[in-house]
Amino acid sequence: MEDRFGRTIDYLRISITDRCNLRCLYCMPPEGIKVKPRAEIMRFEELLRAAGVALQLGINKFRLTGGEPLLRRGVIPFIRALTLLPGVADLSLTTNGMLLSRMNEQLWEAGVRRLNVSLDTLDQVKFRQMTRGGDFCQVWDGIMGALETGFQPVKLNVVALNHFNDEEWARFARLTYDYPFQVRFIEIMPVGTSWQQAGRYFASSTQVCQRIEQALGVLNPAEAVTGNGPASSFQLPGAKGAIGFIDSVSSHFCSRCNRLRLTADGKLRPCLHDQREVELLQAIRSGASDAELQDLFRAALLLKPVDYGEATGAPADGRGMCQIGG
Ligand code: GTP
Ligand code: 5AD
Ligand code: SF4
Repeated sequence: MEDRFGRTIDYLRISITDRCNLRCLYCMPPEGIKVKPRAEIMRFEELLRAAGVALQLGINKFRLTGGEPLLRRGVIPFIRALTLLPGVADLSLTTNGMLLSRMNEQLWEAGVRRLNVSLDTLDQVKFRQMTRGGDFCQVWDGIMGALETGFQPVKLNVVALNHFNDEEWARFARLTYDYPFQVRFIEIMPVGTSWQQAGRYFASSTQVCQRIEQALGVLNPAEAVTGNGPASSFQLPGAKGAIGFIDSVSSHFCSRCNRLRLTADGKLRPCLHDQREVELLQAIRSGASDAELQDLFRAALLLKPVDYGEATGAPADGRGMCQIGG
């Protein structure tokens, strides 16, 4: 599909649950978010229907997100069914890694070939603090298991946070000497709960890059690592892996945006920074035809702003990342 500004939209990020087993400081309030009743969450057959319609429109790359996608019961058979839909060109998953060590093999067998894992610190105590209860060792075991299983690439998503993980940026970068990861530093975006943290903790990609170069020497531009996302790639001399920067705030990649999002409760969301959404699930439940559902995708595309400036914003009391899927 092409949008009003000539951008090719061929990537759908599907949040399959709004539940999460962690409570990251920048993502959720301490008590967590109020999750939707199960009846309001898209059933797997409804998600497959939506994916089928997306494929009819030329959207052939999919990413499963959450909340935490691996928490949803039945996720493995669902993935298998999704990969079997004719025309699927890429299927990936973004996870917090807590359940990875026991699910790597099943994910591989179901057809997933690449994984993105969130990891904001390499320190066990800070990890527990940041995620309000997560276990670093469990996540690290999962990441090692992912490499052994053969996922390629395994990307580590590090939200770069001044006053929190700034002392660790070079350490994260150094991991690429030993492991074939793509370590990606993400600028914190003011979406939902992050509004409260974005000001104090914000670190720009330039700042992170400078800090790494001071410690480890110049980063060489590298070929983009397989993916559909907005990261720019670099490499340390002799490293097995790569380093990526996602300048989600400082230098927008809106002109290269290729995606739509589907929230767990069935709304098509054209932009992270824009609250406007198009209701898809109700249409599916009331028996809409494929042609009618295609029209809803087109309506969502019409709402896609040209850039940040035109977006209506994602306020603190609106949906947070865990309800949109990042
Ligand atoms: P691949 O390159 O295919 O691996 O995907 P990706 O980088 O899109 O996947 P991932 O879920 O790991 O996303 C990484 C982060 O990039 C997200 O969590 C967001 O912080 C940021 N991001 C992804 N899509 C957008 C977008 O449309 N706009 C902005 N501003 N940031 C985004
Ligand atoms: N800004 C940037 N990235 C965020 N994530 C969650 N909230 C934010 C935010 N406000 C990241 C998570 C995860 C991915 C899905 O989104 O760390 O890696
Ligand atoms: Fe859960 Fe991801 Fe949000 Fe952390 S950032 S609370 S892992 S959804």
